[in-house]
Amino acid sequence: MFELNNVVLRRGGKEILREVNLGIGFSERVVLTGPNGSGKTHLGLLLSGLLFPTEGTVIVDGKNIKDYELKDMRRISGIVFQEPEMQFITMSVEKEILFGLQNIGLNHDEMKLRAEKIKSMFGLDNLWNKSPYQISGGEKQIVAIASIVAMEPSFIIFDEITTFLDRKHRERIYEILKQLRCGYLWITQDFDEIPIGERLLVLEDGRIVFDGGVEPLLKSLEIDSPLNRLKRLLIEEGLEEFL
Ligand SMILES: Nc1ncnc2c1ncn2[C@@H]1O[C@H](COP(=O)(O)OP(=O)(O)OP(=O)(O)O)[C@@H](O)[C@H]1O
Ligand SMILES: [Mg+2]
Repeated sequence: MFELNNVVLRRGGKEILREVNLGIGFSERVVLTGPNGSGKTHLGLLLSGLLFPTEGTVIVDGKNIKDYELKDMRRISGIVFQEPEMQFITMSVEKEILFGLQNIGLNHDEMKLRAEKIKSMFGLDNLWNKSPYQISGGEKQIVAIASIVAMEPSFIIFDEITTFLDRKHRERIYEILKQLRCGYLWITQDFDEIPIGERLLVLEDGRIVFDGGVEPLLKSLEIDSPLNRLKRLLIEEGLEEFL
């Protein structure tokens, strides 16, 4: 599991995360929301080991995240960004998947086997030999997810990955999420996506201002739609600025 203890993150003199204390299990399905600039992406980067805290510690399975080798960290947590091109390195979808598998140290046969499994799980047959730069935005995002899922990390961070996608691709990604065996942090500004998680975190100005179960939260309010129920709750919590 991840344990954040008194985590402070400063960049360029600005305090981006302030005294964050948080525990997240590898199998948890967590939704993280909050206004622009509240620090969501930076929290995701800390959990993926791409950034370290300025103060405090991020402990992963009892060991400081700073003490993990990159190769081991990739097996623990993967991150998918809003702009999938940020993570493409090779010139074909197949190579993109294989590249990640090579990085975690699989041998040739294991890589081929794992790649075939991912090709069928994500329905990538038609894209397999295409350049990841020359497919549609929705397809790019599916490939970006596939290349992370292929490494079978214990936990995945999805940073607002559906923002630019149409309904069809969003639905496909929601279906993929249901098939995942690992937990995840789903970062979103879209309240309709809150039921994707079992636990909701709300970040405001670098602080966790809400941390609770999604199901009890939605059930506790007798209003018809989940969205309305959540709005009511945020008002009760004095967080109406998120609406
Ligand atoms: N390199 C940097 N140096 C200093 N401040 C930065 C740097 N990068 C980002 N920030 C600031 O850090 C704060 C948090 O940024 P972050 O991107 O984590 O927020 P966010 O919640 O993900 O926002 P969004 O919803 O827009 O994605 C913002 O105020 C941003 O301006
Ligand atoms: Mg962000």
